[in-house]
Amino acid sequence: MHKDVKEILYTQEEITQKCKELGKTIMNDYHDKDLVMVGLLKGSVPFLAELSKFVNLDVTFDYMDVSSYEGVESRTITIKKDLDQDVNGKHILLVEDILDTGKTLSTVRAMLIERGAASVEIVTMLDKKEGREFPIEAKYSGYEIPNAFVVGFGLDFNEKYRNLPYVGILKEECYQ
Ligand code: IMP
Repeated sequence: MHKDVKEILYTQEEITQKCKELGKTIMNDYHDKDLVMVGLLKGSVPFLAELSKFVNLDVTFDYMDVSSYEGVESRTITIKKDLDQDVNGKHILLVEDILDTGKTLSTVRAMLIERGAASVEIVTMLDKKEGREFPIEAKYSGYEIPNAFVVGFGLDFNEKYRNLPYVGILKEECYQ
């Protein structure tokens, strides 16, 4: 275990098992639709890679990179990398590492609906329901977690720890 990690919440084996279950449900729901899996950079990459192994359909992939800034009066979203394709009429599954306040996903979802997507759903590896400030829920969710700061399997603190093959709670002294 990494020296900065206090406790492992989910091992690689558990995450793989969870991806198998989620993949099966997603396959059932989308077997007759053209599905585009959209990864939110950078955190979703390991989860998207693992999950998509178990979605045995002719899916296509795209990526978006958005940042959320805390301003004086409100938080704003900036698109750093937009999708490569036109989503008009397509079924979009947004893939995220963690759903917290919901600001990022509610903004991105509204944007894709506005562009004419046939449907926009969310799959998240982790869900911090206690942190929610915007009315948005994931249709598919791996694990509901308490309000702790977690790293690994794509999740970072100052860009570190994304490569850990498990999800763990970061020691408080590393970010205080
Ligand atoms: P939201 O817009 O508040 O839902 O933001 C979700 C984003 O916040 C995620 O994609 C992460 O980048 C970040 N985030 C929230 N909680 C954590 C955490 O515990 N560890 C690492 N990143 C987190």
